[in-house]
Amino acid sequence: MHTQFAKKVVERFDEEIRFFKTWVDQPKAMGAVLPTSMATAKRMASLITPESGNPVLELGPGTAGITKAILARGVKPENLICVEDTASFVPQLKTDFPGVNVLHGDAFALDDVLPDLQGRKLDAVISAIPLLNFPLEMRLELLDDLFERLNPGHPVVQISYGPQSPIPPNWNTYSVEPLDWMVRNFPPARLWVHRRIMGT
Ligand SMILES: C[S@@+](CC[C@H](N)C(=O)[O-])C[C@H]1O[C@@H](n2cnc3c(N)ncnc32)[C@H](O)[C@@H]1O
Repeated sequence: MHTQFAKKVVERFDEEIRFFKTWVDQPKAMGAVLPTSMATAKRMASLITPESGNPVLELGPGTAGITKAILARGVKPENLICVEDTASFVPQLKTDFPGVNVLHGDAFALDDVLPDLQGRKLDAVISAIPLLNFPLEMRLELLDDLFERLNPGHPVVQISYGPQSPIPPNWNTYSVEPLDWMVRNFPPARLWVHRRIMGT
């Protein structure tokens, strides 16, 4: 019992060190100084419907805090696709999650990265991409692209660190709903849920 706990503490510390070192090198791509907390990751994963059997797309897995929460939610490893642009994170992700589809590439160019889903639509997108560090036009294009790949009505769950949603709230093709303020996160984070408005 104590050994399990100690192992988790060591693992978390290792994640924090790797995350922080990467932030020093590339703060824009990282967007935060520390990994997402377990409570926040669990809340994001709670919007997945694992029983749909459809793939889940995780953007920006980094040191995998959210990846673990997605798997703990009951998503089968073969149904999880992770797209990470920072090359140094990719080998560890592949080693730690052998059944998961870990892909090195840019979330803003998914056509170049994703495998053929053979007609299947995504159940959910869970995104930790620091959207506020990218121009609004790119954020909107990303959302449009994601909604083409999602089952109608299914969510894009986004973590962000400002009070405002990275996507304008009055956008007319998808809704922008605040989920939670996560104060058990450093820095405190806000979760947003986007869904395509039916008929658009
Ligand atoms: C705030 S960190 C989140 C890491 C981890 N998911 C967590 O929550 O602790 C942002 C992650 O997005 C990745 N990232 C940034 N821009 C990206 C892009 N265009 N495509 C894919 N990943 C990207 C970074 O390398 C980093 O791993």
